[in-house]
Amino acid sequence: MRAPLIVLSSLVLFTCGQAPGTLAPQFGAAPACESGQSWKGGTVENEQMNPGFACRSCHLGQNFQGQNPNGQPEPDKAFFFMGTAYSVPNEADLCAAAGVPSDAVVEILDTNDVVKLTLPINAAGNFRSLSTTATVPVPYKARVKANGKVNAMAAAQTNGDCNTCHTAAGLEGAPGRVLFPQ
Ligand code: HEC
Ligand code: HEC
Repeated sequence: MRAPLIVLSSLVLFTCGQAPGTLAPQFGAAPACESGQSWKGGTVENEQMNPGFACRSCHLGQNFQGQNPNGQPEPDKAFFFMGTAYSVPNEADLCAAAGVPSDAVVEILDTNDVVKLTLPINAAGNFRSLSTTATVPVPYKARVKANGKVNAMAAAQTNGDCNTCHTAAGLEGAPGRVLFPQ
């Protein structure tokens, strides 16, 4: 049985892909995921693809945690900053984010806390920059902003592939997923 699709209000900043406020048809039921919707679309071209997976690693043809066993690359779309934001810390791979706030964005800052990039977050929780190079000073800082609140990463990072540390369990000291402000 298919769970009903979750319809959220649209993001003005979101310019590519299908309608921003609605999940793609490639999502199907997933009982252990807060939204109840898990990506079933494989690598079909879509801004909402593979939430929770290490986006840039796969686009570079790498096989992070067995996510790209065929090593298929998509280097033109290996955007420097890519990831998924969630409302639950340990969401499983491929789970669409639940309750994405309509004004949610990821901000990329320099180490002086000046905002350099603002990345919209779509209905699946995915976000990305527009260039395959950083275009901002690295190391960078990052935070999620929504509903007038902020959830910031304290440390500066050099790798823009957020989900390589923000896995379901968390790696390299990350507590788990990138989270919306609570
Ligand atoms: C397992 C490999 C893999 C993972 C993981 C992956 N992608 Fe992709 N992605 C692809 C491939 C392959 C394509 C090109 C598909 C095509 O051309 O048909 C693609 C295309 C895209 C595109 C282009 C869509 C368009 O309309 O032009 C975007 C945006 C994108 N991915 C975002 C992401 C984001 C964000 C993530 C992580 C949350 C992600 N991808 C994770 C393999 C992957
Ligand atoms: C090399 C590992 C690594 C990468 C890559 C990384 N982070 Fe983090 N992140 C951490 C660690 C460790 C913490 C906890 C300590 C801290 O706040 O510095 C954290 C904490 C956070 C937090 C606050 C806690 C939470 O889970 O929400 C946010 C928000 C965040 N990161 C966003 C991002 C974003 C956005 C990106 C990509 C642009 C990113 N991170 C890339 C390691 C990483």
